[in-house]
Amino acid sequence: MNKILGIICAMEEELAPLKKIMNLKETRIKARMEFFKGNIENVPVVMVVSGIGKVNAALCAQILADDYQVTHLINVGVAGGVKETIVPMDVVVATSLIQHDMDVTAFGLKRGEIPRFETSSFLTDEALTSLALAASRSNHDYTTHEGVIVSGDQFISSKEKIMDLSETFDASACEMEGAAIAQAAYLNHIPFAVIRAISDNASTGASMDYEKFKDLAVENTVSILLHIIRHL
Ligand code: ADE
Repeated sequence: MNKILGIICAMEEELAPLKKIMNLKETRIKARMEFFKGNIENVPVVMVVSGIGKVNAALCAQILADDYQVTHLINVGVAGGVKETIVPMDVVVATSLIQHDMDVTAFGLKRGEIPRFETSSFLTDEALTSLALAASRSNHDYTTHEGVIVSGDQFISSKEKIMDLSETFDASACEMEGAAIAQAAYLNHIPFAVIRAISDNASTGASMDYEKFKDLAVENTVSILLHIIRHL
């Protein structure tokens, strides 16, 4: 089967460095999202800015599955560091993803647990994740971490909330799309990976760091993506 890689970024700034390395063939707008179809080093890719949050992200992943028949999905962007040792410019490669704002504890479920669904922790594809880790670890300008990434429709900027995410989910990083893309990929049987460069850490002042580091941090993801594409 021919491989087609779908790349989802939530924001224009996150896609910008990746767009530069793409040989663009066609663009198309659907659900207010612009899909860029082309190739990178002869591998067919479709890149898109989904918009922020879980609804946008899940919709976007479903369009990539239905309209572009992507065989692999990668979500790239920035995230907040949850563990204190994970600092701006580091990279976190997800091993699994959970929606931290899914809360049906009123009916006795654990936080994050999706009612009437067989799982709430979505495991990333081992091959894609290993490739991402190998590429990221070969860069010694920053530290690479692997672990749980949690997603929710909230920008996390308090120490209390960060401690809560660490204790409840053993999270390494937090963002607003990855777990939704993970669930969409799971439902469509598409192997996926989530690679996030750290733009802020709530223990050091999230919103200030975020503005300072978001564009710089995401540059670290370009060589990781290239390595994956070369070994796909
Ligand atoms: N993306 C980048 N930093 C974030 C944070 N602190 N919370 C949620 N999403 C983020």
